[in-house]
Amino acid sequence: MNRLHIQNLSKTYPNGVKALDNVSFTITNGMFGLLGPNGAGKSSLMRTIAALQEPTSGTIIFNDKNIVSNPQEIRNHLGYLPQEFGVYPKISAQNLLHHIAVLKGISSKSERKDQVEALLQQTNLYQHRKKAVHTFSGGMRQRFGVAQALLGNPQLIIVDEPTAGLDPEERNRFLNLLSEIGENVIVILSTHIVEDVRDLCANMAIMGEGKIIKQGNPIELTKTLVGNVWTKTITKEDLQFYKEQFNVISTRLVSGKTQIQVFAETTPEKGFETMKPDLESVYFSTLFNNQPIKS
Ligand SMILES: Nc1ncnc2c1ncn2[C@@H]1O[C@H](COP(=O)(O)OP(=O)(O)O)[C@@H](O)[C@H]1O
Ligand SMILES: [Mg+2]
Repeated sequence: MNRLHIQNLSKTYPNGVKALDNVSFTITNGMFGLLGPNGAGKSSLMRTIAALQEPTSGTIIFNDKNIVSNPQEIRNHLGYLPQEFGVYPKISAQNLLHHIAVLKGISSKSERKDQVEALLQQTNLYQHRKKAVHTFSGGMRQRFGVAQALLGNPQLIIVDEPTAGLDPEERNRFLNLLSEIGENVIVILSTHIVEDVRDLCANMAIMGEGKIIKQGNPIELTKTLVGNVWTKTITKEDLQFYKEQFNVISTRLVSGKTQIQVFAETTPEKGFETMKPDLESVYFSTLFNNQPIKS
């Protein structure tokens, strides 16, 4: 069983931005969902765990090894799919995987061949192996990203916002691929999309402003809100009023009308109905409660 233990991790960039603020958590094998809005610090956390940048303070322990003082300990066991991959060279997907395998130190030629072939199959890219990656669709590119991340049998896999920009079918396919991988290794999946986490991750954390605000099992976290989420359909003109009066955690347009979700322990007002909380309720109420009180 792999174990990643992060304690009091902080990162302040040279320009003064505090991207990570005293982050602590411990995870073992399985999918860990890191959910948070843009700017929450997800990519900063992932780059720090991947030893691409040093934390300002704090410790990261992977399988009893301190990887802040000894970054090579993580590089040997890491598969990383960054949020932005940059430019792909104009060679075939298969050849590119071979090159990356060499860079990852898989020195046996037959071993490389076996791994590249198995990964092309697993990511459903085998029939496209002769094409250059820059000609791939978004979904194919992300699956290629997973293939390169999996070379060398990593024990810790980090995928940073991998579903952004994928259409629903590509997204499904990609998430299924991840869940197949996630049983015997640690997979950290960062996303701002609630559904990515809901169906796949037994353990998750919500990040905001550099902090872990909430952590747990999605179903358990959702249960804690039963009876505290209310909904009402209002007119657009009244929205400002409701926002001032109640803890409005989300609003959505339903056939031209505005439906609001309110967090409250008892009926907020006549006309509100309780609703079954979902993970979105958890996410938005957590972010809402984390906001500084406006005066
Ligand atoms: N290299 C960097 N230098 C300075 N500030 C950065 C750098 N990378 C990220 N930031 C800032 O740190 C904060 C967190 O960013 P990031 O980790 O990219 O969050 P997320 O991935 O959740 O969107 C943001 O305010 C961002 O502008
Ligand atoms: Mg990011």
